[in-house]
Amino acid sequence: MAVIEMSGIRKDYILSSGVTVPILKSIDLIIEPGEFVAIMGSSGAGKSTLMNILGTLDRPSSGLYYLDGEDTSIYDDEALANLRNNTIGFVFQGFNLLPRRSIADNVALPLFYGGEEFKERMWRADYYLGQMGLAKYRDYLPSQLSGGQQQRVAIARALAGEPTLILADEPTGNLDSHTSDEIMNLFTNINKEGITIILVTHEQDVANYAQRLIQVKDGEVIYDGPMY
Ligand SMILES: Nc1ncnc2c1ncn2[C@@H]1O[C@H](COP(=O)(O)OP(=O)(O)OP(=O)(O)O)[C@@H](O)[C@H]1O
Ligand SMILES: [Mg+2]
Repeated sequence: MAVIEMSGIRKDYILSSGVTVPILKSIDLIIEPGEFVAIMGSSGAGKSTLMNILGTLDRPSSGLYYLDGEDTSIYDDEALANLRNNTIGFVFQGFNLLPRRSIADNVALPLFYGGEEFKERMWRADYYLGQMGLAKYRDYLPSQLSGGQQQRVAIARALAGEPTLILADEPTGNLDSHTSDEIMNLFTNINKEGITIILVTHEQDVANYAQRLIQVKDGEVIYDGPMY
């Protein structure tokens, strides 16, 4: 069963003037378990819009989207949040850590909303921080860590939910090239464990870690095939 199955996905925005702007124009996409996919395309092409729909943070204007075999259109917002929590880990360009919470709390907190017990939350936070080489920083605040370390916390947070899919929108966008390589090596190892990864990037060096390339232009897929 595919992790992602989209057909005829469209996204329109209606401006205050009443004008309808098509952002995604009939996207068809199948992504199988264990794939490592890079999405590329110029600014404004619709990559983040597509990622938000893939992540069920936004709904398409029309089209079918099956996540892990589930028809997302029949889920209400609460059920969709549960499906999302059980399936997807997110990593963003800006790390999106809570500034006043410790590193361990940042990793553990989403698990609270996922209904995990306190002991399990703490165990997983320490386990995944350890995997990211951050065990000794568990009681630090995000501002006390470097950019690369903060992104590793965000990856630990994504992994702590034990997702089948990781969605990363420009995860190396705020990092230097050496740190980007470190982060991409982590993603490669995570993918080898069997977790599907879909990542948006502007950088070819980063995209090269993926096996499959999807190029988006003006809301349409113009290439979908092996990385080249
Ligand atoms: N709420 C909105 N209302 C109207 N238009 C929107 C809205 N959100 C996004 N757009 C438009 O959708 C288009 C695609 O935006 P999107 O953020 O998906 O691009 P992107 O490919 O991720 O670009 P970047 O590489 O700069 O992040 C843009 O032209 C943007 O102006
Ligand atoms: Mg974007």
